[in-house]
Amino acid sequence: MRRLPTALLTLCCCAAALVAEESRPRYLDPAVPLEERVEDILGRLTLEEKLGLVHADSKFSTAGVPRLGIPKMWMSDGPHGVREEISRDNWRPAGRTDDFATWLPVSIALAATWNPELGEAYGGVIAAEARARGKHLMLGPGVNIQRTPLNGRTFEYLGEDPWLAARMAVGVIRGMQAGDVAACVKHFALNNQEHARGTVNVEVDERPLRELYLAPFEAAVREAGVWSVMGAYNKFRGQHCCHHGYLLNTVLKGEWGFRGLVVSDWGGTHSTAEAARDGLDLEMGTRGSYSDYYLAEPFRRGIESGEFPVALLDDKVRRNLRVLLATRALDDRAPGALNTRAHQALARKVAEEGLVLLKNSGALLPLDLAQIRRIAVIGDNAVRLQAHGGQSSEIKAFHEVSPLAGLVAYTDGRADVNFSLGVLAPKYRRMEAFDVTGAAEHVALPDRKLDPAELLERAVAAARAADVAIVFAGLNHERHNDTESTDRLSLELPYGQPELIARVAAANPRTIVVLVAGSPVAMDPWLEKVPVVVQAWYAGMEGGHAIASMIFGDTNPSGRLPCTFPRRLEDTAPHATGLARHYPGEAGTVHYDEGLFVGYRWNDAKAVEPLFPFGFGLSYTTFELSGLEVAAGGDAGAVATVECEVTNTGSRAGAEVVQLYVEPVAPAVQRPVRELKAFAKVLVQPGERRTVRLALGARAFSYYSPERKAWVVDAGEYRIAVGRSSRDLPLRGSFHLTQPLETR
Ligand code: GLC
Repeated sequence: MRRLPTALLTLCCCAAALVAEESRPRYLDPAVPLEERVEDILGRLTLEEKLGLVHADSKFSTAGVPRLGIPKMWMSDGPHGVREEISRDNWRPAGRTDDFATWLPVSIALAATWNPELGEAYGGVIAAEARARGKHLMLGPGVNIQRTPLNGRTFEYLGEDPWLAARMAVGVIRGMQAGDVAACVKHFALNNQEHARGTVNVEVDERPLRELYLAPFEAAVREAGVWSVMGAYNKFRGQHCCHHGYLLNTVLKGEWGFRGLVVSDWGGTHSTAEAARDGLDLEMGTRGSYSDYYLAEPFRRGIESGEFPVALLDDKVRRNLRVLLATRALDDRAPGALNTRAHQALARKVAEEGLVLLKNSGALLPLDLAQIRRIAVIGDNAVRLQAHGGQSSEIKAFHEVSPLAGLVAYTDGRADVNFSLGVLAPKYRRMEAFDVTGAAEHVALPDRKLDPAELLERAVAAARAADVAIVFAGLNHERHNDTESTDRLSLELPYGQPELIARVAAANPRTIVVLVAGSPVAMDPWLEKVPVVVQAWYAGMEGGHAIASMIFGDTNPSGRLPCTFPRRLEDTAPHATGLARHYPGEAGTVHYDEGLFVGYRWNDAKAVEPLFPFGFGLSYTTFELSGLEVAAGGDAGAVATVECEVTNTGSRAGAEVVQLYVEPVAPAVQRPVRELKAFAKVLVQPGERRTVRLALGARAFSYYSPERKAWVVDAGEYRIAVGRSSRDLPLRGSFHLTQPLETR
């Protein structure tokens, strides 16, 4: 066959390419601006196809539009990694074997790192694993402010302070979305308890609403550009939050300019009219068939009858398409990866940086392994698997290094490790019993029915015979512990753990208590009896290694409390009066009468001494803060810039968290004594002195004015307090604002 001249051949190829280009619709071209792609798709959709995009077609997906090559949008929990596959139409696990994932330390442990950059890496791991599992939208981070320490989901959130929660949430969201996965900041808003979460109505004044409870969400939208927001189950001012005109239309989409999608919590939708008009864009988890969803057939009938303008549906569709396109669902997505060593290394780093050393009398820690022959490891939480619990934030972890396994691995035969259960906690569901990986020979579990009294005596005897005793106490994901759907019933440690700790400490003065828990617990009965207490949280799949690394000194603890640890429950705002109206609610309504005074804000206003204050955490080294300077102005339009010096006066490297609190002097309106408005975590070598520079924007001095519907800054005096916790602020300066400011 005669060969065509090259020029002619080239011409034909270009023509073919042009034809193909012309025949490829604009919405499929990633080079086309996103909004144009959205409009191009919208113009091609039928009413049925539009409706299919705004409600579920399975537990965790929407229908997509196969005719146009638009894929289903796949969602997954949760804030600590990619949840196992759930069955299509019910909550049972799908029983897959390719859905093990990296279990990251829980959100409150991440908050305890006070390291937003680590938050970004955390979000990046979730994104890579979400892509590997074909997910577009990840249902996290959770940012509800800790109002009561009894909230069952405290472990899933970022603590009691809006500034810390905002910084950490922005980090996680940026990390996730840079990985082409939509974050979904939740639960919007005021979901601060699990008790009666589906029906409770929250009443709170506008200032605490804005200055505390909405602040992390506002940062997620206006700073991190979060692509989705999940409505909360509860009501606010009488209306369900999943379709709430004021929260969703006026504030979120109006004032904050949110252009992504609002998804309901699963089963949080209760009305077609409200879902149509009051800001819901995607209905998930409603009971019954998908076609009966409020935004399915009933919504179609309402549009066809003229009750709802089709423009309401089009706006919802646009928002869903924006998120799909933003996650490159129609384009080539990077493949992602599951369970990589890099992901596990990040999990370990977060665990290590989140450990908070609360007490270390006599510098008992770090232990010198060369001086130790026998270690008694005691407690149910030394071996209990925690990943696969807590409900929606659970993870089917690729592996989980328990504290016992971590200690056995670290000591590696250089010391005898003797494990005693010590207490009898509820049995395990769904997952195998104890994880004694690598420690089986150290686990002398009796082979007959466990008797609590005997367990206690065996633990005490083990402690007495050891050089050091390490008690892993705390909570778990059983009901009325750290879990979704229920709140805790008290601050007390369950299962007789206080007696266990006291008895062990009496048997061995070198007793270390490590708390594996996601929320504050009462310590008074035993705290003064033990020299060392560490808050380890639920530290992820590498937690055992992180804890061992810290105990033996390879890791210098740098975590700081993201929430106040109270002495007693009555020392906290919602429980001070003991009135049901303050918690858990009366006649279906809970009143946040404490207003702005939550967490350390309450302690400061009421002069209530905490057991351990917000921002507290010890190190194996010591630091000195000095040289405070406060100057007007600064980079990027800062109102003020604050500098100080951090010197490591100890003998080993360590990270200090320099915290800056603003204290209005004689404010014209009621305001907290002090509020965290900036912080920086700095690594300092022994003897080194480092300068820390913190910028303060107008918001750092502002409060919300309901009358003016704006954030305002009054002229006047502001004290600048800098230190290492909300109650340890050695550096004090002042800043004078001569003119009032208005700010967004
Ligand atoms: C749950 C939770 C929410 C979760 C969703 C899907 O009830 O409240 O956080 O993402 O349903 O599991």
